Order: sequence, then C-alpha cells, then structure tokens
Amino acid sequence: MDYTQKMLRDDALKGKSIVVTGGGSGLGKAMTRYFMELGAKVAITSRNLEKLQNTAKELEEETGGKCIAVQCDVRNYDEVEAMRDAVIDQFGSVDVLLNNAAGNFISPTERLSANAFDTIIDIVLKGSKNCTLAFGKHWIDKKEKDKTVLNIVTTYAWTGSAYVVPSATAKAGVLAMTRSLAVEWAKYGIRSNAIAPGPFPTKGAWDRLLPGDLKDKFDLSKKVPLKRVGEHQELANLAAYLVSDFSAYVNGEVITIDGGEWLKGAGQFNLLEAIPEELWDQLEAMIKAKKGS
Ligand code: HXC
Ligand code: NAP
Repeated sequence: MDYTQKMLRDDALKGKSIVVTGGGSGLGKAMTRYFMELGAKVAITSRNLEKLQNTAKELEEETGGKCIAVQCDVRNYDEVEAMRDAVIDQFGSVDVLLNNAAGNFISPTERLSANAFDTIIDIVLKGSKNCTLAFGKHWIDKKEKDKTVLNIVTTYAWTGSAYVVPSATAKAGVLAMTRSLAVEWAKYGIRSNAIAPGPFPTKGAWDRLLPGDLKDKFDLSKKVPLKRVGEHQELANLAAYLVSDFSAYVNGEVITIDGGEWLKGAGQFNLLEAIPEELWDQLEAMIKAKKGS
C-alpha cells in the first residue's frame, strides 16, 4: 500500500464550495489541489494576489476544476467579510471554511518585540477567529446547514513549545475555539474539527523554522517514531475526509497526523529506545535479581 495514493472516490466533494485561507502555497495548496480533484470549487485567499492567481491557474490546468483567487489579510475583519462576500458572489454559497493561513518563526521569546508576538497571534488566532465569525454569522443568519470549519493547528497546541511561543499560544486558542464551537454551533448544522500535523516540509515553514544549515543540523524525521516526515497527499487525504459528508458525525475532534512524533517526546521512558537489543538480557537479569529485596 502506497500512502501517497489518493484516498476518496472521485466525486467525494462534488457540489461543495470551499474556502482555503493561505491556499496559495504549501499545505493549503496541496489540500486545494485534492479538493479540486474530488470535484469541489475552491476559493484560495491570502495577502499575495499574484501568488494566488498563479496557483489558481496552475491547479485549474492540472485538475480541470474551478479555483478562484481572492486577496485578503485575515487579520482585518473588514477584508474577511469582503472576501466572504466575493466568494459567495461567484460560488453562490460556501460549504467549508479551512483555516490554514499562519505566520511563524523561531526566536527566544525575550528577543521578541510586542509587535512581533502580536503579528503571529493576529494571523493565527485572530485570523482564524475573523474567518470563523464571518462565515458562521452568515450561515446562521441565512439558516444554511451542513457546514464545516476545519482548522489547521499543531501538536504543540496542547504540549506548548519553546522558541515558537506566539505560535503555540495562538494555536492553543484555535484548538479551544474548535472544541467550543463544535458544541455551540452544532445546533446550526455547523461542524468544527482540527488537524494537528507533525513535520510536513514546506518552503514557508522550513525557511522560518529551520533557516540556513539548521535544516541539516535538525533532521526532524529523526524525532518521528515512523522515521520520516509527512507527505502532503497524506494530509490532503485526511482534510478531504474531514470536510466531506463521510465525516458527518465527527465534530469537535482534533486529529493528529505526525507519525507518533509528539508522543515520543512525551513518554518518560521513550528514550530507552537507545538501549541495544543485546543489553536487555542483562537488564532483565539485574531487575529479577532484586526480587524480594
Ligand atoms: C524576531 C521577527 C522575526 C524574527 C519578524 N519579526 N521576523 N522578530 N525574529 N525572525 C518581527 C518584526 O521585526 C516585526 O516587529 C514583527 O515581527 C512583524 O514583522 P513584519 O515582517 O512586519 O510582519 P509581516 O510582514 O506581517 O509578516 C509576518 C511574518 C512573516 C509572520 C513575520 O514571516 C510571514 O509573512 N509569514 C507567513 C508564512 C509563514 O510564517 N509560514 C510558516 C507557517 S509554519 P517590529 O517590532 O520590528 O515591528 C507553521 C508550522 C508549525 O506554523 C509547526 C511546524 C512543525
Ligand atoms: P506556508 O506555505 O507558509 O503557508 C502559510 C500561508 O498563510 C501562506 O500561503 C500565506 O500566504 C498565508 N498567510 C500568512 N499570513 C496571512 C495573512 N495575514 N492573511 C492571509 N493569509 C496569510 O506554510 P505551511 O507549512 O503550508 O503551513 C500551512 C498550515 O499548516 C499553517 O497553519 C501551519 O501552522 C500548519 N502546520 C504546518 C506544519 C508543517 O510542517 N508545514 C506543521 C504543523 C502545522 P501569503 O503570504 O500570501 O499571505
């Protein structure tokens, strides 16, 4: 079985219209491509219109599907409302909001200016809030049902992480929003779920999290029990399932896709993996020798 294969049947998202924030690059682009292959119309949105237009054109040619580019800085609520209205003008309605846009960089926290910290919180937490509120209010007001919000968080949303503190703080907020609204907005027919990816190499993330030769010094695949990083199609498969009707009973969930990475860091004795096989006979004998003492 090849884990890079496409998972859902061809028309699994037929008739759906989907907004992907940060859809012009990286994981947002990979998820957009697969949604289009499955028959969805997709609006991709971010700050850089030229990048979005190039991606939309490339994916339309590649998939034969429909993709529109709408400029929007998710930090500004007015721009988010304008983006929502522009997409609805073209698609008639929106079924899925995928909050994928993010900002991040590594830094000791004491080096950060207040503005640097705010910048990350504003893109990740305020941006996800702005989009969720703008689309949620619209769906509730128009009594539209069977809607889905999917948020991309990280595993350090619950563990926290040094050196990316604004991002960890913001992603924790997005996870809390996911779970809270899963309950509160279920009565309106709106589901809320999240995906927590482990390392999935993208230019945007790697340039900011592993600049220069850090890429070689910190091989992230070594932290993963499955000894590899993620393939974009694997994430796209999971996202497509979560925005499809096949997951209609999944609500308020965060699904980790990280090859076991965060648990490896968490388990107190996981470091015993370093013990060579032949040493276990000796260790067992030493432990048994203490019986009754
Ligand atoms: C310290 C920094 C900094 C750095 C920026 N700043 N980079 N401070 N170290 N490396 C400070 C600036 O000096 C400024 O503060 C403030 O942050 C805002 O910077 P701007 O450049 O004006 O902001 P802006 O143009 O809005 O750009 C936002 C950005 C940028 C986040 C800084 O990197 C960006 O556009 N990122 C988008 C894409 C991205 O980050 N992708 C990665 C997602 S990966 P002052 O005080 O000087 O004004 C991800 C993965 C998670 O989330 C898990 C992986 C396993
Ligand atoms: P990426 O390519 O840098 O994607 C981030 C996107 O966010 C960009 O397309 C960017 O577009 C957009 N964006 C940034 N600021 C914005 C703003 N103010 N308004 C609107 N859009 C904005 O990085 P990625 O790796 O694909 O990350 C995608 C998501 O996965 C993020 O939520 C990230 O936290 C998450 N994630 C990634 C990994 C990984 O290993 N790659 C792991 C865990 C979680 P513009 O610059 O054009 O605005």
